[in-house]
Amino acid sequence: MSENFTTTQSGAPVIDDANSSVIGRDGAIPLTDHYLIEKLAQFNRERVPERVVHAKGGGAFGVFETTEDVSMYTRAALFQQGTTTETLLRFSTVAGEQGSPDTWRDPRGFALKFYTSEGNYDLVGNNTPVFFIRDGIKFPDFIRSQKRLPGTHLRDADMQWDFWTLSPESAHQVTWLMGDRGIPASWRTMNGYGSHAYMWINEADEKFWVKYHFKTNQGHETLTGEEAELLAGADSDYHLRDLSENIAKGNHPSWDLKVQIMPYDDAKDYRFNPFDVTKTWSQKDYPLIPVGTLTLNRNPENYFAQIEQAAFAPSNFVPGIAASPDRMLQARIFSYADAHRYRVGTNHAQLPVNSPKNEVRSYSKDGAARYHFDSASKPVYAPNSLGGPAADPAQYGAHGGWENDGELVYAAHSLHAEDDDFGQAGTLYREVFDDAQRARFLETISGAVGGVQSEDIRARAIQYWTNVDADLGAKLASNLGHGHTPATESEAALY
Ligand code: HEM
Repeated sequence: MSENFTTTQSGAPVIDDANSSVIGRDGAIPLTDHYLIEKLAQFNRERVPERVVHAKGGGAFGVFETTEDVSMYTRAALFQQGTTTETLLRFSTVAGEQGSPDTWRDPRGFALKFYTSEGNYDLVGNNTPVFFIRDGIKFPDFIRSQKRLPGTHLRDADMQWDFWTLSPESAHQVTWLMGDRGIPASWRTMNGYGSHAYMWINEADEKFWVKYHFKTNQGHETLTGEEAELLAGADSDYHLRDLSENIAKGNHPSWDLKVQIMPYDDAKDYRFNPFDVTKTWSQKDYPLIPVGTLTLNRNPENYFAQIEQAAFAPSNFVPGIAASPDRMLQARIFSYADAHRYRVGTNHAQLPVNSPKNEVRSYSKDGAARYHFDSASKPVYAPNSLGGPAADPAQYGAHGGWENDGELVYAAHSLHAEDDDFGQAGTLYREVFDDAQRARFLETISGAVGGVQSEDIRARAIQYWTNVDADLGAKLASNLGHGHTPATESEAALY
């Protein structure tokens, strides 16, 4: 017998790989053909549920090198000058399903896992610095409005614009989305952002608020709506292919990490509520500070094991990095690990791609598909007098936290002097976009709103863009051949 014979999953030799066992040449297959049954049953279970959002994506491994001294802001080991940390970065679209085209207009996910010496740190961001909503309670509604109608299973402009126009805090992100950067030419040629404000804590337990910006070193490149539509048909895996082929050729993409640092006390009376993820912090107020460089240099060897089963969770912090009062971030701190328990399994953290490189000394035990087990002499409870691991109070200062006092209420974030829904969207349109970008922007929103059937939602969409910029609203109304007269400012407040 050759040494390279096929076996069943339990290791026994397989007699025939091409013919089922039958009773007589034309007879029925008996239940005793357990190899056929094993093969078909395993096949039926090959898929795990796709991610409820960000289902289509790809990624690669790499390294992050901290080249600058930012120890005055954070004690995190990975951000100490000269440290290199292995990383995994997964890119994705948001609304499309697993087989959907890479080039649909959508934000792109930019999910990073740093395998640090102090545990895994996950920074799960997007290619835009802001988001559509500012409270996680709206997230399921928002996503459903962008996905498919329950009856026809078609995507639907009315649902999208109904939700957006009734959620005016979306205007800044929708302006990003409908602008040129709404369709990157490749994952390599776009930035990544942490989007939320996070907390950094230094060795002296001093706290800072921080925003992350990963700046592409490949230069920004985007696709026009028309190019993207053609590519969606010609090569739905266009971005996945681009990343994989470039890394295979040794053309390793990189991003420089820069951060904005806000002193802890500034947050109280900054112009905008700094914990509102629909807002950016002005770079004039808080300039970008260089930290280091992320380089992707290794393709996954197995897409399913290393990308599909990868589990990125905003709850994975390390000492010196913590959450902020951003309530979207707080909702996410629950949501992702919960999704992983459902999508990959309760022991997802033990899979090689998710497992930290440092030793895990946890009291968690058992559960489906448990792989690691501790020695029988290790106690299964704490506290114990048997030498089992004990928590480390010396880490207290590194956990972050902020003072707060108040009644239990249902209310929006506190308003700061310049907080509103449309101001930063208007600035992006008028001051960041150039004439050509503004022209393409108008064309894009005219097409998108043009797909809306309901007159009421169309009128609201025109008002929404009028609130962003009066001239833009008027041009949109004229493009749509709409008799609607944009409302006065006080009427507009209704939207
Ligand atoms: C994926 C929930 C907001 C970026 C996911 C997943 C869930 C989720 C359940 C799938 C996780 C998995 O199955 O592995 C939420 C909720 C949000 C929210 C409840 C609001 C409260 C955001 C924001 C960003 C973001 C603000 C970016 C700044 C991502 C990315 C992924 C993702 C990049 C894909 C991660 C990967 O590549 O595996 N989100 N999300 N999400 N989300 Fe969110």
